[in-house]
Amino acid sequence: MKQLTITHVVVIALMAVFLLVAMDRAGALRGPQPTYTPPVAAAAVPAAVADTEKGKPPPHNDKVEDLPDGKGREVTFYTCTACHGVALIKAQGLTRDLWDSTFDLMLEKHRMPPVKPAERAEILDYLSEQFPPRRRGRNADNPFLK
Ligand code: HEC
Repeated sequence: MKQLTITHVVVIALMAVFLLVAMDRAGALRGPQPTYTPPVAAAAVPAAVADTEKGKPPPHNDKVEDLPDGKGREVTFYTCTACHGVALIKAQGLTRDLWDSTFDLMLEKHRMPPVKPAERAEILDYLSEQFPPRRRGRNADNPFLK
């Protein structure tokens, strides 16, 4: 019998590798695989958990009194502070038209629930009266010049 050459060794080794890869791909070398279990449907979540999620308190501790007194303060507070505090509102000074656009922004971009037209008018009156455009100029917000 002829001597085993390096070529024989390489060919036999390659065949062994191919065979192992083929068996592995066929799953012959692996044990039982975990099966996919779909996540629990939302309806199956216990009611108590779902309720705490839904009834989440707003992300601030503001009270009605944190808005300046005036007609429409309550409706403004309860409509506008479900998602943010009063600070975001107080920081603005806008005309009624621009408060109107802000209102649309909250409805369209931030998905605020719809508001009745009468309430919307009351809120816009309140906002434009309490937070009108501020005087322009570099010293307008300087507390030491008051
Ligand atoms: C459904 C949730 C939601 C409600 C309700 C809501 N907003 Fe907002 N508002 C947001 C989000 C979200 C932002 C962006 C917050 C941020 O930038 O941190 C925002 C930002 C603002 C800003 C800052 C905008 C700016 O350009 O800096 C103002 C002013 C504002 N809201 C006013 C109001 C007023 C007035 C109401 C009531 C009519 C209201 N929001 C109701 C979600 C809401």
